[in-house]
Amino acid sequence: MVTTTDSAVKQFISQIRNLYEQEPNVDKRWEKMIPVMRELLADADARKDSAAWPETVYTDRAENLLFYEDPDYGFVLNGFIKISNPDVKPKSLIHDHAQNWTLYGVLDGTDAIERYERVDDGSKPDYAEVKFTGRFQVGPGDVDLVQPWLIHAEVGETKRTTAFILRAERPGSFLQGRYNPETNEYWQGYGPRMTPYKLGGMDSAPTI
Ligand SMILES: [Fe+2]
Repeated sequence: MVTTTDSAVKQFISQIRNLYEQEPNVDKRWEKMIPVMRELLADADARKDSAAWPETVYTDRAENLLFYEDPDYGFVLNGFIKISNPDVKPKSLIHDHAQNWTLYGVLDGTDAIERYERVDDGSKPDYAEVKFTGRFQVGPGDVDLVQPWLIHAEVGETKRTTAFILRAERPGSFLQGRYNPETNEYWQGYGPRMTPYKLGGMDSAPTI
């Protein structure tokens, strides 16, 4: 009998599917995914493979690699490599991910995450007041859970950041909020473009 060991990424996907099957409480389900993501980040093959991921490009929107989309639950596994000038410390727009849950797992590099809170009542169109509430760093092996509608920004601290991102659904087809705390402008835009990519340890790239 031939036995095969599934790759870390296949094991990760099956553990996430188990949580969808077994944990009906959405908040608890996503909390329980944090240690599962940590295990994936610690896998030597997954780390080695990420060195060959193509660099993602920011045009009018960010770009993410798409490694997997679940046929039953709809969650997606994304990746990205961001190359930046550490002297400039590029900061994303202050934004939310709309209704989408996001688990951000850092393989390489360091990002600072800024958190904000909305303080107006949302009744004025194209207007939002947000208050800065904190900043923390994430580095290799760290996982940040971003709840729906959470307002935040990512600041690149090192030249190269590589990350796995697990999302409840494929982004890019629905609008997400953007905020400018200096002018109190609020507007919406689409999330990252998806570029299918065959991840090491997977049989094929997803089709979209
Ligand atoms: Fe974000």
